Formats: sequence, C-alpha cells, structure tokens
Amino acid sequence: MWGTIATWRMAHDGVIAAKDILAGNGDCKDAVETAIRKVEDYPYYKSVGFGGLPNERGIVELDAAFMDGDTFQIGAVAGITDIANPIAVARKLSLDTFNSFRVGQGATEYAVLEGFERKNMLTPRAKKIWEKRLAEIADKKLNPYDGHDTVCAVALDQKQSMAVGTSSSGLFMKKSGRVGDSPLSGSGFYADSAIGGAAATGLGEDLMKGCLSYEIVRLMGDGHTPQAACDRAVYGFDQQLRNRLGKAGAFSLIAMNNQGAWGVATNVEFTFSVATERQAPSIFMATPGPNQTTVIEPITQEWLDA
Ligand code: GLY
Repeated sequence: MWGTIATWRMAHDGVIAAKDILAGNGDCKDAVETAIRKVEDYPYYKSVGFGGLPNERGIVELDAAFMDGDTFQIGAVAGITDIANPIAVARKLSLDTFNSFRVGQGATEYAVLEGFERKNMLTPRAKKIWEKRLAEIADKKLNPYDGHDTVCAVALDQKQSMAVGTSSSGLFMKKSGRVGDSPLSGSGFYADSAIGGAAATGLGEDLMKGCLSYEIVRLMGDGHTPQAACDRAVYGFDQQLRNRLGKAGAFSLIAMNNQGAWGVATNVEFTFSVATERQAPSIFMATPGPNQTTVIEPITQEWLDA
C-alpha cells in the first residue's frame, strides 16, 4: 500500500507528482520533497516559498521541516531567506547528527554553503500585497495578521516507510524572527513509520500550545483510526483553548497511518488533497461537523472554477 495526503488545494499538483513516485515504488522521502517543492516554486501561492508573503519589514522569512519516520531523523530551518527550496535544506539537515535545526542567518549560510539554489523569494505581486496591507493597517487599524497556510505532506511508500514535511512563509506581517509551528517537531509535523504521520496548518501560536501532530500519531498508535485521532485531538484541543484562553485560532490537521488510511480535522473550512493505491488524486473540502466530527466532501467544479 502507498499513499500521500497534503494540506490545501495548492498541494494538488504536488500530490499528483508524489503519487507517480509512490506508485512506481519510489521513496516516501522523495515523494514528500517533490510535493512540497511544487508548492514552493509556484509564485501565486501566497503563504509558501516563492511568492510567500513577507514579514512586517518586507522580508520573506521561510520555515520548513522534514522528518523520516523510519529513523526519527528531523531537519528544520526557520527564518531562512533567499533560498528557493527550504524543504530541500530541511531534508539535508535531517541527515546531520548535530545542528539539524538552523535559524535565520545560520540557516541561510548553511544552504548557500551546501549549494542550494539562491533566489529572491519576494515577487512583485507579494510586494504589492504587502504594501497594500501596510496602507490598510495605517488607515483602518486592521489586525495585520492573517495568511498562514502551510503546505504539509505525509507520504507512505510501498516499503511501509513514512515521511512528513512542511514549508511556510508563516504569518503574514509577522515580526522579524517570529517562528510558527511548521518547523517544530510534534507541533507542525510528526512521523513514525510503525504508526503513521500527521501535520498541521493554521495559527502556529495556537498549534504550538497543543503539540497536535504528535498527539494524533500517539492516538493512532493507541489504535484510533486516523480520522478518529484527528477528531479527538483537534476538537478536544480547540475546546480546551476556548475554555481556558477564551478563543482558538484557525487550525487544520492531516494524518495518514501506515496502512494508507487517512483523516483530517479542522475548525475552519479546509481543503486538502489525497492519493492512495485505492484512491485517485482528489481534492476534498473539510469543515467541522456536529459532535466533534468532520464533514468531508469532494470539492465541486463550481468551487474550483471560483
Ligand atoms: N502554521 C504556520 C505558522 O503559523 O507559521
């Protein structure tokens, strides 16, 4: 059995590319990197890679992580700048015993020394959106923070190995040096080939409070299906936040177990893409349902056209 699941409609082309690798008996680590690179390279996705939205100073600071579910090796970068594919850097770092999570200048220097492609990641379009937002904030005292749609991919290959990756420009208009959940193990992602993998998109500040990716893998390890694990972790924590803090930011989690079964849960409208040996690549819409369940429906042609 093989399979892959990834966050947001933007990941669909990457899922199709990952499916080709997995169906051809390729490696789940290559599938994850390929899926995420596709999103990083596409200039019109505003929250990941090239074309990602900048911080309050107009600088595109990117976060990414990679985890090998066989060995538990993790690599991550935070606040990396001017590097085309942070996911590839994170994957390379996962092979290092020491210094495997690099931030800021140290992350960028590492990537340059290792020969990763350099690129000005601020597109004219992203700069225009940033300038418009600055004006809106000044004029209308808008809350500047939105746009935190991370691309995450979980993959299972035919050898029953699993991997997970994340990549994000983080919160639009974030303060310089702000880091969200995406490069943080347990919060933004987790994978254990003996159980399954999970990953998160949404407000990092809240996701980090719940370590939800680890929690979902743990629940799957306790025998829950991926869907039951996602529902229990996401709606349970959403309720805890509302009870204790009075509010919960938007967040959505995806999961797949090592049999190719998958699940998602979300407290907002959330699209995702999935492909398995039994299921052609498809985009779905998830919304919170009654009694801590998730309603999952195929997206319609009207939705895609819009
Ligand atoms: N989930 C991405 C972030 O908050 O940075």
